[in-house]
Amino acid sequence: MAIISSKKQPPEPNKKPKEQQESVKASSDQDKILQPEAAFDEQGKQEESIRPQRFADYIGQKDLKDVLEIAIKAAKSRGEVLDHLLLYGPPGLGKTTMAMILASEMGVNYKITSAPALERPRDIVGLLVNLKPGDIIFIDEIHRLSRMTEEILYPAMEDYRLDITIGKGTSARIRSLPLAKFTLVGATTRVGALTSPLRDRFGLVQKLRFYEVEELSQIVLRSSQLLQTNVTPDGATEIARRSRGTPRIANRLLKRVRDFAEVKKLAEVTESVAAEALELFQVDPCGLDWTDRKMLSVIIEQFNGGPVGLETIAAATGEDPQTIEEVYEPYLMQIGYLSRTPRGRIATKAAYKHMNFTPPNEQLSLL
Ligand code: ADE
Repeated sequence: MAIISSKKQPPEPNKKPKEQQESVKASSDQDKILQPEAAFDEQGKQEESIRPQRFADYIGQKDLKDVLEIAIKAAKSRGEVLDHLLLYGPPGLGKTTMAMILASEMGVNYKITSAPALERPRDIVGLLVNLKPGDIIFIDEIHRLSRMTEEILYPAMEDYRLDITIGKGTSARIRSLPLAKFTLVGATTRVGALTSPLRDRFGLVQKLRFYEVEELSQIVLRSSQLLQTNVTPDGATEIARRSRGTPRIANRLLKRVRDFAEVKKLAEVTESVAAEALELFQVDPCGLDWTDRKMLSVIIEQFNGGPVGLETIAAATGEDPQTIEEVYEPYLMQIGYLSRTPRGRIATKAAYKHMNFTPPNEQLSLL
């Protein structure tokens, strides 16, 4: 079966951490899927240790937190489960973290999985029949669910009911099994790719936005304390500026900068230490990496600023089109370096300046 990770809330103090990583057996090959994902290596453990556990520790996404805090209070006061929630937005902004926080704020258990792990109907059935009242299921990349899995989810989400077809052809009958009332938290980078019947079954549909530099700087300072690394406020801001509005990247860069400072025997991460380390890792002052710069230079140098088709950009950078669309382009658009038009991608004037090229209209005025 299909559970990547699951956790009981609140943790029982007399249990060892390993026992809190519970999994539900539903089919013989479950372990094959569980092992690589559930085995927490050192890095995984470290990531878990800096992940905020409650709203009070979660920096940024104020609008979303406000909405969810109201939903939680209302559900608790009525003694009901939380409405199904769809979270969308670029990767690394905290969709999984938010689901875990929801579980701890509601005082319920959660199970984390992803659409590719729910390929066969029995995967989702196994997950649903083992639910306890109030449980939260988190399904990542929910736009990738198979049609059969989706169809099992419809009555489960709407009426907490599992419809099972028994027999075949004319003698086929549907039997309904009641399920525990649960909350589905779906996450996607491509909300437009969800089918409308699935999207319509979420009571709350919320977007996660890129973080401000100030918010990321606070996240870096918080994480640096948990990792016992000395980072100055200016050092944190320098890391934040290069983090593409994304906490996951901020924490990743913090670890690279920490390595650099340790190897160079530097007592603290200042602005200049962070800048030097991140130059070494080819992260530029705006947070652009090799692929971002290659994308912009292809559009500017080979196609006169565009429009250029997605496939062409993908071929030139060696990335697949979906990664370009879902990972690279949202941030380049957010900082105003790229526009998507029906005829293709265009590099903006700001992108020309960042890449040290003269924008086309200014080239004319130089003649
Ligand atoms: N680590 C990753 N995301 C975070 C956030 N939003 N707040 C605090 N720490 C984080």
